[in-house]
Amino acid sequence: MDNLIIVNNPLVQRDVTYLRDKETKEYQFRLALKRIAYSLAIEISKTFKLEEREVETPLEITKGFSITRQIVLVPVLRAGLSLVDSFVEMIPQAKVGHIGLQRDEKTLKPVDYYYKAPKNLDISHVIILDPMLATGGSASAACKFLKDRKAINIIMASLIAAPEGVLKMKNEHPDVLIYTAALDRQLNEHGFILPGLGDAGDRTFGTL
Ligand code: PRP
Repeated sequence: MDNLIIVNNPLVQRDVTYLRDKETKEYQFRLALKRIAYSLAIEISKTFKLEEREVETPLEITKGFSITRQIVLVPVLRAGLSLVDSFVEMIPQAKVGHIGLQRDEKTLKPVDYYYKAPKNLDISHVIILDPMLATGGSASAACKFLKDRKAINIIMASLIAAPEGVLKMKNEHPDVLIYTAALDRQLNEHGFILPGLGDAGDRTFGTL
């Protein structure tokens, strides 16, 4: 699928294995997730535009670069919060918006309960953060929310994606590139990703 980029270096593959393992404790789960998020941030940063600027070293003036476009991270509450710290460490100038979406466990449809984002989304690089792309309902709703508020340049960062969700995004938001650490096999009848890692939010925050 051409809307999907799989980020899979050996460190990521090892860490995805930690995430999948049901014996992995919360603190190990959080650390593995944090490390994967660094790799995602690096990969996504390849889409950022650089501007040249002069920099004066202690010895002479030389050419340097800066990222001038505003970067807005938008974690989808709650599980998306688990990716924020790593992205902010890698992109310290980033602003952070929040979208609260909860998947209704019966209908599997996302229900929104919170939204707050910085201004000027139309001239920003917007990166949606959500570890799970299952049916794609939440990701698609998050994109619509942001597009309704004038965002144009949107990227999705996830840890695990199901083909069903990637396809839904391709149909509904073909302009949005998805970066993920693993493309899994399928969804089960409850909308859980197989083989997956369970529920990232519950495993991160210990609410199993
Ligand atoms: C999970 C996950 C995504 C969504 C993915 O959130 O973090 O937001 O489900 O499913 P979808 O692709 O089918 O929409 P959940 O509703 O469990 O809330 P949480 O973040 O509070 O755990």
